[in-house]
Amino acid sequence: DKLRHVDSMTTLPSRAGKIPKLNALILGEALASEEDHLIIPSQDFSEQAHVSSPAEYLEMYRRSIEDPAGFWSDFASQFYWKEKWGQTVYSENLDIRKGSINIEWFKGGITNICYNCLDANIAAGHGEKIAIYWEGNEPGVDATLTYKQLLQRVCQLANYLRDVGVKKGDAVLIYLPMLMELPIAMLACARIGAVHSVVFAGFSSESLAQRIIDCKPKIVITCNAVQRGSKTIYLKDIVDAAIAESVRNETAVDICLTYENVSALKKESTKWVEGRDTWWQDVIPKYSDTCDLEWVDAEDPLFLLYTSGSTGKPKGVLHTTGGYMVYTATTFKFAFDYKPSDVYWCTADCGWITGHSYVTYGPLLNGATVIVFEGAPNYPDPGRCWEIVDKYKVSIFYTAPTLVRSLMREGNEHVTRYSRKSLRVLGSVGEPINPSAWRWFFNLVGDSRCPISDTWWQTETGGFMITPLPGAWPQKPGSATFPFFGIQPVVVDEKGKEIEGECSGYLCVKSSWPGAFRTLYGDHERYETTYFSAFPGYYFSGDGCNRDKDGYIWLTGRVDDVINVSGHRIGTAEVESALVSHPQCAEAAVVGVEHEVKGQGIYAFVTLVEGVPYSDDLRKSLIMTVRKQIGAFAAPDKIHWAPGLPKTRSGKIMRRILRKIASKQLDELGDISTLADPGVVEELISLADS
Ligand code: PRX
Repeated sequence: DKLRHVDSMTTLPSRAGKIPKLNALILGEALASEEDHLIIPSQDFSEQAHVSSPAEYLEMYRRSIEDPAGFWSDFASQFYWKEKWGQTVYSENLDIRKGSINIEWFKGGITNICYNCLDANIAAGHGEKIAIYWEGNEPGVDATLTYKQLLQRVCQLANYLRDVGVKKGDAVLIYLPMLMELPIAMLACARIGAVHSVVFAGFSSESLAQRIIDCKPKIVITCNAVQRGSKTIYLKDIVDAAIAESVRNETAVDICLTYENVSALKKESTKWVEGRDTWWQDVIPKYSDTCDLEWVDAEDPLFLLYTSGSTGKPKGVLHTTGGYMVYTATTFKFAFDYKPSDVYWCTADCGWITGHSYVTYGPLLNGATVIVFEGAPNYPDPGRCWEIVDKYKVSIFYTAPTLVRSLMREGNEHVTRYSRKSLRVLGSVGEPINPSAWRWFFNLVGDSRCPISDTWWQTETGGFMITPLPGAWPQKPGSATFPFFGIQPVVVDEKGKEIEGECSGYLCVKSSWPGAFRTLYGDHERYETTYFSAFPGYYFSGDGCNRDKDGYIWLTGRVDDVINVSGHRIGTAEVESALVSHPQCAEAAVVGVEHEVKGQGIYAFVTLVEGVPYSDDLRKSLIMTVRKQIGAFAAPDKIHWAPGLPKTRSGKIMRRILRKIASKQLDELGDISTLADPGVVEELISLADS
């Protein structure tokens, strides 16, 4: 019944013309239709939620579109600004035909995100509240920090960074596992206006070197080693190799601050470069635990985060301070229906955007209690997640479909032997969640009680773009539902024309939002061509989607040369360039194939140098090359020996055909007559299982 009274509010005005219909009214009909499998939040949940019904959502959404300046200023005003932003709340040009792409929010506003995460919460009386529960790899190894203690730790590191000469605007590279020191390091940079660049500690030394060479950090922060599951990874050795490689490329790193991660390794067995390397524990505790802030402009950079694109070179996505702050905080609060009594756990690593926006900034800006988990979710056994949920009484649990699928395979008893009573909201991110995984997550993990926020967003978007609001929307398993406030998604056809109603197409966004990235570091032209030129007038996400008759959005995956493996973005070109660096590989073409647990797996077609025979050892050595150059997470699942690759007469590899061969959809190969040598297709098919 709640759904019926929204039927007079379907078409909303917008900043740039009419926005697609939000067919909330049809929900009334859909409700009656069995095949839609609507899952409706319980009345109890909705009544206590920040947004309780589609009607409430629509009212707020309407305002966010009609009056973005007013809408976002209200949320921004909940934070501390040393000086308020100027007259113009935001300015934007998303239309490449009208000139350079430019997005600014709250320009002229002076603030500090670390202040708003920590000092402001302490000033509001929450200094003794737990900010971080840290859970180590081994059960029973744990630690906590209150907001006050977290601030002290951040200040000590910030003072050290200043002391060694890090200034506002300087890059600091952080290569750490999920220790408390990782968010501490991020916040310390933010406190002094330095720009952090966190590199996921699963990247190889070569990938790390590439990023060091690009952003030229004053200092690299790492630890000696980490235990992940039953494996020990010697991070300092990887950093040493990366710095050596950077030096060969004329990029020196003056300081390597190394945390002694005692649970992993003794100090004495770590290789040391005198004059460059410093133990964290030897210096940081000596610094004062208060530290003056560097006040920054809303548009000053906060961080760089490298992500994969369709060429081999990673892109340094740059986020600025003010808009990102307002956006991550607001999305966190609404999409998870966050309340101060919640205990929140996001399983992502701070090396990815999810760990920036929704382990660190979004939750701390809301004064939340956050779990930082060092270990692997299936160690020592597949019940570890639920053990942690019960231990800390986690109420909001946010993870990736790949984890849900892998735990699903282990059997329900690993879940049901824990109570999970504290859970109230579940979340999913990184890739489309298939309906069967959704249902298992909902029915078993959440005891059919907890709404699932399937949040669609990207490194580039800074925060959630399309997401359920858990108390408002009836859910359809596998759909990310509707746009967040202020977001105007459009579906366009290949000519860039907006399509209305029920449709499939490319997902674009037609106006800016506060959390949007502002540029690619050092390459504004690539920013413009990658994201704003394919469909002029819009930001193009690189994703395809369907919109159903009720207006629900269903993401269908990347439409560019990016593969999504376990929620990690990997460019096919990166894997190909690693493969061809192998002395015995002449050519490589990489495509994504469906994978039961990872979502997509990496399938590599490889042509060897003339005369080299294909062997199992060579296959292993090719895979090893990719692990070494990118990281273990990018290792191909399958190497397919290809004496020749299907190419057009102009020499272009026809990936469409390779995708079909890889997924064994041989009756869907399509027209192969345009190939320079159609015979290679037969040959490839015959070698599929060799
Ligand atoms: O393809 C989409 C997929 O992940 C891509 C963004 O990857 P990244 O920048 O690494 O950020 C991942 C975490 C935000 C998108 O282009 N993706 C992310 N979330 C979803 C998703 N696909 C479907 N549903 C989602 N909820």
